[in-house]
Amino acid sequence: MSRWLPGFPDAASTVADQVDALFLFLVVTSTVITLGIFICLIVFAIRFRRRPGNEVARQIAGSWKLEVTWTAIPLCLALVPFFWGANLYFDMSTPPPGTLDVHLVARQWMWKSEHPDGQSEIDELHVPVGQPVRLTMISQDVIHSFYVPAFRVKTDVLPGRYSTVWFTATSAGRYRLECAEYCGTDHSQMLGWVVAMDPADFANWLGTQGTQSLASQGERLFQQLGCNGCHRADSLARAPMLEGLYGRPVRLQDGSQVVADDAYIRASIVNPSAQVVDGWQPIMPTFQGQLSEEQVLDLIAYIRSIGPDPGAPPPAPRPSPPPRPPLAPTGSPPP
Ligand code: CUA
Repeated sequence: MSRWLPGFPDAASTVADQVDALFLFLVVTSTVITLGIFICLIVFAIRFRRRPGNEVARQIAGSWKLEVTWTAIPLCLALVPFFWGANLYFDMSTPPPGTLDVHLVARQWMWKSEHPDGQSEIDELHVPVGQPVRLTMISQDVIHSFYVPAFRVKTDVLPGRYSTVWFTATSAGRYRLECAEYCGTDHSQMLGWVVAMDPADFANWLGTQGTQSLASQGERLFQQLGCNGCHRADSLARAPMLEGLYGRPVRLQDGSQVVADDAYIRASIVNPSAQVVDGWQPIMPTFQGQLSEEQVLDLIAYIRSIGPDPGAPPPAPRPSPPPRPPLAPTGSPPP
C-alpha cells in the first residue's frame, strides 16, 4: 500500500500485505456504504419533498421482506471482515516453528532486547531477514506497547506478565520501533529501531558482539543465589529437580496441573508459594523485587537450556504418582 499511498509506512513483514488488504477492504466498504447513505438521503429529500397537493406522507405499517433484507445484507457484510480479521489474528498470534527467540524488557523510557547468545541492545533490535522472530516481552514498570508500523505488529508489554509477538522481516532496512501506549512524560521519546539484516550480515553482527549466552548467565545467577542448594539431585534436595522440566506438565499440591512455561517459571521465582509442586514443602523464599526482569529471563533461559532437548521426540507422559492418601486432619505437623 505504501507504494501508492503517500505517508503510509513501508511494508516489510510477511503479514504486512495481508493487514493492508484487510484495511483497504474496510476503508473501501465503509466509503461505499457512507456514500450510498448520503446519496439516498439527498435524492429522497428532493424527490419526496412536501409539495402542494401532497402534504402528508403515506404511512406504511411494516414489511417483513424489507426488514429481513436490511438485516441480512449488513450482517453478511459485517461477517466478511469478522472471519477475515479473525483468521489473520490467529495467524499473527501463532508463531511458526523455528523462531529466533529474543527477550525484550521495556521500562520508562527505553527498550532493552537480549538475544539468546547474550547480545543485548538498547533501543535497537537486530533481526535476520526471512526468519521468524518471536519476542518474549515484559515491562519493569508501567504498560508499554511494542509497535513496528512497517511490520504491522503491535502488542502491549505488561508489568508482571509475559506477552509475545512474532514477525518475519521481508527486506533489509531500519524500521521505527515505537511505544504505542501512553507511559509517562517521555512516552513520545520512547523510540527505537528494528534493524533487519540479511542472514549473513546478521550472523556477522552477532559474532562482533561477543558475550555470554543468556543460559550461562542464568546458570551463574542460579549458583550465586544459592538455588542449587535446594534444587539438587541428591538426598539433600529440598526442592524439585529442574532438569528436563521446561515445557512439561507439572503436578501441583492442589492436584491441578500446569505446563512449565515461561509464565509458570517466572511466577515460581517471584511468588513461589502460590503454586507448590506436589510432594514438596513451600519453603522457597520469594525473589520478588530482588531480581531485574532481565535476570528472571536469564534464569528462565537457563532452565530452558537444561530442559528436554528441543530436537527430541515429545516425552512420554510421566507416570501419574500413586493416589494421595486423604489429607490428614489439620493441625498435625508434617512428618
Ligand atoms: Cu512506553 Cu509509551
